[in-house]
Amino acid sequence: MPDEDVEISGEVDIGLVKDVGAFSFKALQKAKSMVKVGIRLIDVADAVEGLLKENGYTPAFPLNLSVNNEAAHYTPTLNDEKVFREGDLVKVDFGAAKDGILGDNAVTVDLGGNNSALIQAAEEAVAAGVATVKAGVEVGRVGRAIEEAITRRGFRPIKNLGGHGVEVHDLHASVFIPNYDNKDDTTLEEGQVIAIEPFATDGKRELVVESDICEIFSFYGEVPVRHPIARKIQSELSSNYKSEPFAARWLSNVAATRFELYSGLTELYRAGALERYPILVLPEGSMVAQHEVEVLVEKDSCSVLTK
Ligand code: CO
Repeated sequence: MPDEDVEISGEVDIGLVKDVGAFSFKALQKAKSMVKVGIRLIDVADAVEGLLKENGYTPAFPLNLSVNNEAAHYTPTLNDEKVFREGDLVKVDFGAAKDGILGDNAVTVDLGGNNSALIQAAEEAVAAGVATVKAGVEVGRVGRAIEEAITRRGFRPIKNLGGHGVEVHDLHASVFIPNYDNKDDTTLEEGQVIAIEPFATDGKRELVVESDICEIFSFYGEVPVRHPIARKIQSELSSNYKSEPFAARWLSNVAATRFELYSGLTELYRAGALERYPILVLPEGSMVAQHEVEVLVEKDSCSVLTK
């Protein structure tokens, strides 16, 4: 449950928070520039996740490339052959990490569809939300500004997704920032880092549901497991992926086939070693656009970190 009393300032170097925000933005622009019809999703993921590593960062989470009615959490699978197609509406959500400081930002790319108004609604919702953010403001008030910007364009906000506090090694920490006026009177505090993250849809459904596909996980810690492949995966997770979420495909060095990989991950999940982040979807035929920035809450306003 949210703990609204935790602050990031004072504990961490604000210079590093700004660096991570700026590099998260740079990586997002790189990903955005690569999203083109005919390009493989996995090539975009490899390129931008690699860009972070070359520059001394790691991914705060795997690159999310969610298409059309998928709102969030699609990341390419092992040996994924999927390519972007004409008309796709692509949510690109990504962030850098360094020493536990996390970045998070997102943008939507329209590959020739008729979704520019939907994207505009999400972008205007970010601007409207950001304009309300300052120390002492109620999160329901931020949500109302976001909702009004989206409904003004004739669309609906997704109500079970939203912005969030960002703390050390914890991407969905503390406060929840709704994308509608949920009347939550929790107030923002000076020094908090938060993400403003509206999703707008042209469909009737305002709630996303979990699909049965899951490519993103996080590791809680070691548990007893029997099968050799599950043990191999667990030892890899223990060495390299103890903090931030990871993609199944990042384990290709310990599980050569998809069968091995998913049977190992399934055993680890059942044994309680993993959290799952399944793809979050709307009904087929609905489109969803997302826009996201990370900001530092200040006394009378806020400053955008992902720029
Ligand atoms: Co976010």
